[in-house]
Amino acid sequence: MIHPILLCGGSGTRLWPLSRKSYPKQFAKLMSEESLFQASARRLSGDGFAAPVIVTGDPFRFIVTEQLAQVELAAQGILIEPEGRNTAPAILASALWLAKTDPEALMLVAPSDHVIPDTAAFIATIQAAVPRAQAGDLVTFGITPTRPETGYGYLELAEGSNAGATSPQALARFVEKPDAVRASEMLESGSFLWNAGIFLFTAQAIVAAFETHAPEMVEAVHAALSAATADLGFTRLDPVAWGKACNISIDYAIMEKADNLSVIPFGGGWSDLGGWDAVWLESQPDEHGNVCSENATSIDCSDTLLRSETDGVQLVGIGLENIIAIAMGDAVLVADKSQAQRVKEAVDALKTQG
Ligand code: GDD
Ligand code: MG
Repeated sequence: MIHPILLCGGSGTRLWPLSRKSYPKQFAKLMSEESLFQASARRLSGDGFAAPVIVTGDPFRFIVTEQLAQVELAAQGILIEPEGRNTAPAILASALWLAKTDPEALMLVAPSDHVIPDTAAFIATIQAAVPRAQAGDLVTFGITPTRPETGYGYLELAEGSNAGATSPQALARFVEKPDAVRASEMLESGSFLWNAGIFLFTAQAIVAAFETHAPEMVEAVHAALSAATADLGFTRLDPVAWGKACNISIDYAIMEKADNLSVIPFGGGWSDLGGWDAVWLESQPDEHGNVCSENATSIDCSDTLLRSETDGVQLVGIGLENIIAIAMGDAVLVADKSQAQRVKEAVDALKTQG
């Protein structure tokens, strides 16, 4: 049995104005009638999968239960973080929670904001990784890189490993979010894959890795679980103990340091929708390169994304090239597509204005 661990505490600021602090992108209907979170939960349901464990923040708890019910799923547990302290404490909390009943429980840790169109290929890849994870490895999922992206982790294949294999391969190194020069070098070398942000390991293997590389976090998270309160099926981690856990991602805290890593290459299509440019690309633009939502019309445009996110708000673009326009009832974004990553700056600026 594989236990899906769905991380959904992130804020997704690069997809503002659709993604909000109170309603981040994973819960929005970005790509279909299903939210990214619902699609992630459904992808990891069915034969061979236990009900998911959700790790999220207090403001999202009822969004989680409601969205799961809509797709006829229920969680095995919902761990509520008193505050987001990044993915390392979130994953450790789920591992310690599962280990209480089954230290050998297999955990498939997955972000809740990715697009993976080919579910069958993804499930087959997970299954192929199971024996290696059961043997104690921390298995990562590798994507063939296509650009010198600085927002991802890079996985260096060990000598003799095969980037096109369908079985787990040995890893030499994990490099999280390199600078632009290093990213270009790694892309050109041909011996690196992108880290998909998806991991398979047993609860005891990841707890052991934390005990080696971040023992103080084990103490803090263990205490937060021991003093947790149960409330309507939610497990609320203790805020005082949780506050002592370092705010750090699993990639920096564990993956860059561990020596029992492997990678299974995944060629089935993957995007982390890290900005509106990625949403445009994944939405299958028409022959002029345009993507228009309902209530959005393009006249003489090319390579443009027009989305009206509010009923009754009409959005029309005329003669636009390479533009992103997102209209909501209370906010409108208009940006050059090549600068889509800068939406984060807008969110920061709005925050300072209060
Ligand atoms: N519960 C919880 N709590 N979830 C969180 C928290 C938190 O404090 N912080 C982030 N998450 C969730 C996000 O919602 C997302 O689903 C997932 O964890 C990954 O976090 P991101 O913040 O999106 O990470 P990233 O994209 O910068 O980097 C990771 O993913 C890349 C691929 O998309 C790394 O693993 C990279 O190495 C990887 O390449
Ligand atoms: Mg991400």
